[in-house]
Amino acid sequence: MTGEGEPPIDAALAAVSVADLERLAEQRMTPEAWDYVSGGAEDELTLADNVAAFRRRRFLPRVLVGGGATDTRTTLLGREVALPIGIAPVAAQALAHPDGELATARAAAGAAALFCLSTVSSRSLEEVAAAAPDGPRWFQLYVNEDARFTRRLVERAEAAGYGAIVLTVDLPVLGYREREKRRGWELDVPLGNFREPGGAAAAGDAARGDAERGGEVDLDRLLDTRHIGLTWQGLATLRDWTPLPIVLKGILHPEDARLAVEHGAAAVWVSNHGGRQLDRSPAALDALEAVVAAVGGRAEVYLDGGVRRGSDALMAIALGAQAVFTGRPFVHALGAGGQPAVEQVIAILRDELERAMALLGVATLADVRREHVLPGA
Ligand code: FNR
Ligand code: LAC
Repeated sequence: MTGEGEPPIDAALAAVSVADLERLAEQRMTPEAWDYVSGGAEDELTLADNVAAFRRRRFLPRVLVGGGATDTRTTLLGREVALPIGIAPVAAQALAHPDGELATARAAAGAAALFCLSTVSSRSLEEVAAAAPDGPRWFQLYVNEDARFTRRLVERAEAAGYGAIVLTVDLPVLGYREREKRRGWELDVPLGNFREPGGAAAAGDAARGDAERGGEVDLDRLLDTRHIGLTWQGLATLRDWTPLPIVLKGILHPEDARLAVEHGAAAVWVSNHGGRQLDRSPAALDALEAVVAAVGGRAEVYLDGGVRRGSDALMAIALGAQAVFTGRPFVHALGAGGQPAVEQVIAILRDELERAMALLGVATLADVRREHVLPGA
């Protein structure tokens, strides 16, 4: 981290909270990258509400339950992880730091935390796998209008050792992010997955061709799934392509959670895409309990959106989540100081979680119950 043009990491390593790193990131990232990462859709009501929903809730701690170390381990789809806070898929991380996803994936692997790689990552899924071979990794899938290419992506992820396919279902079209529109900015960094390993650029639509060349990418075109009609029936096709477990990311309605289970999803990921898609979607935390009830233990349930403290993770777990993911905190850390700062943010969240567990009076995550949350809070 001493290369020319790279931000100094001193202040990043002195950060004591996610908010500290966020402030630093705002100073150190380009205004365009800051707006892309930090912004949400339209009036950013859902973006704000994701955080506010955590702040509204209160714990009801228990005392005199014995001492001993707290244990933050859990399993996600059968794989043990050191903490129930994973790294959500975030596009184009080279916007925050030249190392991009290599840095985030390495930091996650070092902490035995789950890393989820976006389809529209700066680095290819093979490069990320090579950089962090032993870390728990999942691959987030955006379905492209070229079905052959989409299938190859899934096969590549499987071959590179990713443990699950996370199908994002809340992006039939891109949400309207006004911060970017005002700047007239479009994502313009190379995207690593749109070229086959070995360099062959398969024939495809124009948007994908732009991504292969590393030119400006019209995400709205690249990711538009309306015209290929991705539906519940389409999930069967995905299941035919791979034996990997399928996670559906972007579920808010309990009925969709039930359908997800009925269509074979191994897990349901409650998310409003960090407030970047439908503004006025509910805060993820507010949607969680109804989804947990609808799933009824038949699949794992995760949540992302607004997790900024270890205690936020604990709150979501008390309300029925198996684990949470967080997006912006990791990318802000990456922008504030590269891999060491991402390691720092993971350590901060882990410490906060351990302390919150001790203060709540629980030794393991399995001990956390709905009764640990103040009713009506
Ligand atoms: C995202 N998110 C996202 N989700 C996804 O499935 N594929 C993707 O490529 C992206 N890209 C992306 C870029 C940026 C800049 C952000 C901030 C988010 C959504 C992400 O996975 C997650 O749902 C949210 O980030 C969670 O909210 P918090 O933790 O950022 O509040
Ligand atoms: C975003 C897309 C790429 O939220 O998921 O910007």
